[in-house]
Amino acid sequence: MRGSNIAVYPGSFDPITNGHVDLVKRTLQVFDRIIVAISINPDKRDALFTVEERLHMARTVFKDLKGRVRVDSFEGLLVDYAEGVGAHVIIRGLRAVSDFEFEFQMAMMNRHLKPGLETLFMMTGQSFFYISSRLVKEVMSLGGDVSNVVPGNVLKELKKKFKQRSRERSVG
Ligand code: PNS
Repeated sequence: MRGSNIAVYPGSFDPITNGHVDLVKRTLQVFDRIIVAISINPDKRDALFTVEERLHMARTVFKDLKGRVRVDSFEGLLVDYAEGVGAHVIIRGLRAVSDFEFEFQMAMMNRHLKPGLETLFMMTGQSFFYISSRLVKEVMSLGGDVSNVVPGNVLKELKKKFKQRSRERSVG
């Protein structure tokens, strides 16, 4: 998957939501191929899903776009990963203005680290503005309905995970 028309879309994807899927589809209107790159962060111990689970869920979601969407994981600096796969562009989604400050800092730091790598911000579709993985997990943990905001296979895995958690809590 080398070449100049590849974009890397990095994130935690814990789990992947319909907002992420929307962004990937929008990106495919501009780029030939996209690598959804799941960050392995050993310091982030509050993740709900393991990296393997996240990879599996995302790969299932994009199985029909296999030739154009690759799902991978990476450890270390994003800029090094992007360079290693031959991408010149990092894609990040922007929802609300509140996303901007952190995204701006990251983009500037990445530019400082690798000046030839550009960060491109894509706007999520308006029906996805309020979706985030963090809120999905919170709503799910409190028994709310997230069926319209995550892909079907992810919903299944979320249900399994929370069932398992409540079982563990009732035993422990
Ligand atoms: O989905 P998230 O949690 O907002 O994604 C953040 C992510 C994974 C893109 C960011 O933490 C990242 O790039 N991590 C890799 C390590 C790195 O390069 N850090 C310096 C960023 S300026």
